[in-house]
Amino acid sequence: MRLGYHQMRLVKATVPKLREQGERITTIMYTRMLRAHPELNNVFNTVNQANHRQPRALTSVILAFASALNHDISDLIPKLERMCNKHCSLGIKPEHYEIVATYLLEAFAVVLGDGPEGMTAETEEAWRRAYWILAGMLIGREQQLYAAFGPWQGWLPFQIVRKESETDDIVSFYLAPQNKRPLPAFLPGQYISVQVPLPNVGYMQSRQFSLSDAPHEDYYRITIKRETGCQSSSNNTFNGTMHYPPGQMTNYLIDQLNPGDVVDVTHPAGEFFLDTRQLSSVPLVLISAGVGVAPMVSILNTMMDLHPTHEISWIHGARRMIPFCNHVREAKRRMPNLRTNIFKTHLADGDLAGTTHDYDFRVDLAKVNREDLHLNHSGAEYYICGPEQFMLEMADYLKMQGVELSRLKFELFSTGDMVEISLTIETAWPRNCSSSFSAAPASSWRTSKSLVQIVDVTAWKAA
Ligand SMILES: Cc1cc2nc3c(=O)[nH]c(=O)nc-3n(C[C@H](O)[C@H](O)[C@H](O)COP(=O)(O)OP(=O)(O)OC[C@H]3O[C@@H](n4cnc5c(N)ncnc54)[C@H](O)[C@@H]3O)c2cc1C
Ligand code: HEM
Repeated sequence: MRLGYHQMRLVKATVPKLREQGERITTIMYTRMLRAHPELNNVFNTVNQANHRQPRALTSVILAFASALNHDISDLIPKLERMCNKHCSLGIKPEHYEIVATYLLEAFAVVLGDGPEGMTAETEEAWRRAYWILAGMLIGREQQLYAAFGPWQGWLPFQIVRKESETDDIVSFYLAPQNKRPLPAFLPGQYISVQVPLPNVGYMQSRQFSLSDAPHEDYYRITIKRETGCQSSSNNTFNGTMHYPPGQMTNYLIDQLNPGDVVDVTHPAGEFFLDTRQLSSVPLVLISAGVGVAPMVSILNTMMDLHPTHEISWIHGARRMIPFCNHVREAKRRMPNLRTNIFKTHLADGDLAGTTHDYDFRVDLAKVNREDLHLNHSGAEYYICGPEQFMLEMADYLKMQGVELSRLKFELFSTGDMVEISLTIETAWPRNCSSSFSAAPASSWRTSKSLVQIVDVTAWKAA
């Protein structure tokens, strides 16, 4: 698919208006698409539809791509890599792209109108081509990922073989494949998708959960925090209160499912991982809050198996109870270079500083000594997972200490952009440092410096 220079200009000229009307585009597109293809309700997360996170993410990437036509798109690669991993974890196939194309372009046409500045036949053709250039890149990368998955593509039934409370609101599930075949290894930090028919939603629903143990051939472990929901004050509403209902999947899994029950699972995926295939000797700093502990324990346990003397620091923040605290205490006995700094805000009777925790306040990296943060090591890598605001604060502090963005890796337990972090990073880090939220393997993307080449070179169908 080729996009000529004039077509590129037509596409770019529509971007400001489309950007202004982003919310309307997503509403029109998803309402029409799901009405025509109700089976896709089983694919999309109904909550991220309701709160617009997912459709907003899709439109924002397409418009960012259109704006970047003729420019360097390397900034988009981490985002594309994250999307492709998510798509593969959810079994998205090339034929789905046809459906999205139809309803996306239809929504663009509604928003742009049909005047000479609107969606003329020429502009529509230009947009179709631009969409398929992007879709072709995504489909190509997804084909590579599916090929790497091997024979396990799509959903496989797994039995819950063990369920264990880690705190009063965090529970680990041990999942074994019903076909009893040895499970493929994964890179610590990656996630699986779990799918169940949610009775009160009426469709299948899936969510991602980080693997929380080292790879094992006979089970995967995930660790889930119950989303209790809440009423929260907000300036965004007229009456000042927002209602966040309890999480659909986490409450169902924790309350309704037990050993012996079966859930559907996809192959491990994800671009946030410690690359154990080419492990270097640089210190690792794991920084987590709440259930952000899950991928960190996977990294820790994998390193305990592979390289127990590696320099590792784990910094964790919790409210009342520390998940995996006994396990980490045991790990410290087996890993002589493991340092921990535990922050806890709500102390219980019997809590003892130096034993159950180190600090009785929220995570404050300024209180952690420089050796534990490995700030004097110019190559140390930082793996960060927790609520968005938490990750923003951690990134800010590390940036102030001179840590380059390329050494920070974030896992967002949600969909779309960490808006505040991307804004901060855009303005605070020099443009030339490779802005990666993840370990996106740029080599997997047939990137060129500039989309001029994409515009003129027909073969953007990666791999
Ligand atoms: C890569 C990745 C890894 C993850 N790993 C883990 C993990 O290891 N452990 C873990 O516990 N979680 C993990 N998550 C998060 C997980 O996938 C779920 O999103 C989370 O557990 C909540 O699921 P839920 O169905 O219970 O909540 P949902 O029902 O999806 O609700 C989510 C939130 O949205 C609010 N909400 C509901 N409706 C609306 C609305 N209309 N408008 C605004 N807000 C609304 C709810 O109150 C709730 O706070 C991960 C996510 C990703 C993307
Ligand atoms: C050019 C086309 C597409 C673009 C630009 C796009 C973009 C995105 C983005 C940005 C995300 C969020 C990723 C994240 O932050 O985790 C996402 C997730 C997702 N996409 Fe796509 N996508 C495209 C095509 C499709 C198609 C064809 C389907 C299937 C019909 C699809 C289904 C999904 C689903 C189910 C999710 C996860 C939603 C969630 O977790 O709430 N996408 N996509």
